Formats: sequence, C-alpha cells, structure tokens
Amino acid sequence: MYQKRPGTFMADWSDADGRRHRKQFSTAEAARKHEHREAALTHALRASRELKLAGLSGGKKRANTETVSATATIAAAMGKLGVMIPGMGAVATTFVAGVEAIRKGLAKPIGSLTQMGTVRLGKRTEGRSPKIKEFVPLASLDDLIFTGWDIFEDNMYEAASHAGVLDQRLLDRLRPFLSSITPCSAVFDHNYVKKIDGPNLKKGKTKMDLAEQVRDDIRKFKKSSGATRLITMWCGSTESYIEATDAHQTLKAFEKALRANDEMIAPSMIYAYASLMEGVPFANGAPNLTVDLPVMLELSRCHEAPICGKDFKTGQTLMKTVLAPAFKARLLGLSGWYSTNILGNRDGEVLDDPGSFKTKEESKLGVLDHILQPSLYPELYGNMFHKVRINYYPPRGDNKEGWDNIDIFGWLGYPMQIKVDFLCRDSILAAPIVLDLVLLMDLAQRCSELKGIGIQEWLSFYFKSPMTVPGLYPEHDLFIQLMKLKNTLRHLKGEELITHLGLEYYD
Ligand SMILES: NC(=O)c1ccc[n+]([C@@H]2O[C@H](COP(=O)([O-])OP(=O)(O)OC[C@H]3O[C@@H](n4cnc5c(N)ncnc54)[C@H](O)[C@@H]3O)[C@@H](O)[C@H]2O)c1
Repeated sequence: MYQKRPGTFMADWSDADGRRHRKQFSTAEAARKHEHREAALTHALRASRELKLAGLSGGKKRANTETVSATATIAAAMGKLGVMIPGMGAVATTFVAGVEAIRKGLAKPIGSLTQMGTVRLGKRTEGRSPKIKEFVPLASLDDLIFTGWDIFEDNMYEAASHAGVLDQRLLDRLRPFLSSITPCSAVFDHNYVKKIDGPNLKKGKTKMDLAEQVRDDIRKFKKSSGATRLITMWCGSTESYIEATDAHQTLKAFEKALRANDEMIAPSMIYAYASLMEGVPFANGAPNLTVDLPVMLELSRCHEAPICGKDFKTGQTLMKTVLAPAFKARLLGLSGWYSTNILGNRDGEVLDDPGSFKTKEESKLGVLDHILQPSLYPELYGNMFHKVRINYYPPRGDNKEGWDNIDIFGWLGYPMQIKVDFLCRDSILAAPIVLDLVLLMDLAQRCSELKGIGIQEWLSFYFKSPMTVPGLYPEHDLFIQLMKLKNTLRHLKGEELITHLGLEYYD
C-alpha cells in the first residue's frame, strides 16, 4: 500500500503468476485490507500449486523451492551470487578480503548476525535456537563473487593496501584473489564529491548514456561470471546534500531528467536506476538519497528488486541507539548530547567538505528525536541540545575515535553525566554489516512475500537512517530493530512471532 497523493491510497499486490496489480482507495485502511485479502489469495494459490507439484514429484518438494509457509515461498539459493560494489574503498575491500579470509579458514565472521547469530523459536521451554543461516536458506559464502566500480584504477589488493585497515600480511596471503578484482570505470561528478578526483571515469553525452553503460556492465558481469543472482551494494563516498525534486518523483520525470543532464541526478542514483532496471536489488551504505526517492520505490516494486538504506550503523550511532532507548525506558531526561569524531581515512577526507558533511549530519541527527519522542515526553526531552561533529585527522587513518558527552537528569531534576570514548575501527564494524545485507537482500529477492514490496524496512537494524514507506516514522532502537528482523524471519517460515509476553509459563 502506498499513498499516491493526499486522499488517494493504492493497494499494490502481485498475483500468483507474479503480475502486479494496483487499485485505488480513499483511505489507507481500505487499501491495506484489500491488499491483505489479495496477498492471502495469492499465497493460498501458490501453496496449492506447490502441493500439486509436490504430488507430481512423488511427494518431494520442488528442488528449487526450499520453504513453503502459510505466507511465503522462498526459492533456494542455487548457483553463484554476484556482489557488485560501487566504491571499492576501505569498507568494500575490508568486506571482500574478510569473506575470502573466512572462506580460507583464516578468520571468523565476527559481528555478522547471519553467520554467528541464532533465532529463538517457540516457547523458552522448547530449547529451539537454530543459527539464522540454518533457519533460512541463505547463499553460502563460497558462492559469493565480486565486482565493482571506482574512480581509481586500483584492484582490490591495491585498494585494500591503500586503505590500511587490514594487516598487510593477511592481504598478501589473499593477494591473487584480491588482485583479480578490478574496478569498472565509474559514473562520477566532482560536484557531488568535492575532495577526490580520479581517472577511471565513464564518458557519455547524457546521464542516460552513463546509465546505459552501467546496465551494460551489469549484464556483462552476469554473463561472464555465470551468477544466477546479483546484488548492488553502494560503498561509495558520501555525496553532497540535496533534497528530492520533481525529477525524482516518477519514472517518466526521472528518465527525462537523465536525458536532460539534470544536475539533481547524483551518480549514486544512476547506479541505482541501472541496477533496478536490470532487476537487481540495491542497498545503500551511505547517507545519500540514492534509493530513498519515490521513483526508486516505483522501480523497485515494478521490477521486484528490493531496496534498503541508508548509512551503515557502525560506531557512534550504534552506541547512541543502545543508550538512548535505555534513558527513555527509565524515564531519565536528556539536556544535551555532544558527539565528536576524529578520523583520517578517505571517508574522513570526503566528509571534510561541508556538502558531504551535511548529508552525514542529517543522517546522524535524526536518531535521538525518533527514539526519545520529545512530543510525547516534553519535560524529559523537549529541550535537548544535540550536536554532531566530524573532524578529519589523518594520523588516525581508519581507526576512528568517537567521543560522546551526554548530559542527563534524574529524580527531582538532578543532573548527571556520561562520557563515551569509542576507539573503534570503522571498516571492521562495517564489513559484517555489508555481508549480512548482501545475504539478506538476496533472501528478499528470492522470497515471494518480500521481493515486490520495495523497501526492506526489516533491515533497519543495519542503518543509521532507516528507509520506510512515506508517512511511517523509522524505528531506531537497536533492540526493536533486531526483534523486527528476527520476527520477519520467523514470519517467513511460519513460526510463531515472539512477543515476550510470557504469561503462559505461569498458568
Ligand atoms: N566505515 C564505516 O563505518 C561507515 C559507516 C557508515 C557509512 N559509511 C559510508 O560508506 C561509504 C564508504 O566508506 P569508506 O570508508 O569505504 O570510504 P572510502 O573513501 O575508503 O571508499 C569510497 C570509495 O568510493 C569511491 N567512489 C566515490 N564516488 C564514486 C562513484 N561515483 N562511483 C564509484 N566509486 C566512487 C572512492 O573513490 C573510494 O574508493 C562512505 O559513504 C561512508 O560514509 C561508512
């Protein structure tokens, strides 16, 4: 369901044959009800077809359909999964090198929910807590293959060495593999990322020409690698702050703007457009608008290519979305939260530009208002002062330091302070997020219930500024996000959702 314009709501569903339908209603509730009815019919029809097929094949399930629940079918993760990364810098290389190190048994996938996490099923007394990767059919790490785009010509070994995140001895052991991944030429616009420039760029008369070239890269990679499925994962630099315009509202307007070289079309949007047109899901790790636009939602739904974003939730914001819910849970007031960072990697250099910093600042600032809800708790949070600074300091490289000074108040208004000093490693925190997003977005594209809905809000857990359908506020609390993610998996597999009510244990 989505709102077309004020007072017009569209029910939006796919039938059992994958055909998309829309119907107009004057209230959101009526549209939602209609959509639920149609979705139930679709699932019932698909389930009965599955049963018939199972009957025909001697009672066995179809090989390419791993899961049939009351609500969803999930196609098996067969064949290779191609991961395409615009921006082969610190995060991308730490992720790819990490996957290869894990495949070779040189390291463990620490920080990855899909690899190490479990999901409790049923009652606490049942003792069922499988690993997530055993509960839902995820692609195996052995089936991941990689490509990317960058404005620099460095292959992944050179780019990882330049980024300086991972130990050089580890990179040297992975050298043949990493050197084999070389970037395609990039779509780049210096006006959107002012602090860097590189030679490896596409040329074209219009932005539509550039989009066609990216589409061609995607088709060629699919063919040459033999991948059965693809995912695009934006790990490129943060682009300058812009707001959506008319050009971003509909496909027609967007394509017209591409042909007219409209300056409001950022490079990341060109990759997103190309991916979605090719039916490839797109995840956005930076705070850029990119897929957070009506046109991208339209494309995503039409092509059944999921989208999610934005801005990986790694260091300081991870801490913020853990601490702020604790203050709210205990009704402790907040008068101020001052966050500052020093970092010296290329990302830090890019963020030294006011336009790129503004994009990041917006993404980091939204968190507290949404969690603390000052309109509901004006005496506690109505007057808080929230400031975020990022300072480029080359000696630190990727090893960021994030300080938080938090002024809170308690019983009778007595003030207290908390100081957090997180000496983190930016890309070490980001890499497992990239891995999980790749695997879960691939799950979404194979899942009948998720592939056509557009935004994958259940993946909010991974983002500083989670995308939601227009009109819905995002959930920022890390533990609500985790519950949302795990409940989505339970729902897909027809397991009972966990509410933590627990009264039944005391009957
Ligand atoms: N590391 C983290 O913890 C973290 C957290 C949240 C968000 N992010 C975001 O993830 C992104 C990547 O971070 P990073 O530390 O790897 O930065 P990085 O500077 O090391 O890598 C970014 C790469 O993108 C390339 N690039 C820029 N514009 C491009 C374009 N149009 N097409 C292709 N390539 C392009 C750059 O040349 C560079 O190699 C940044 O936007 C950053 O803000 C990172």
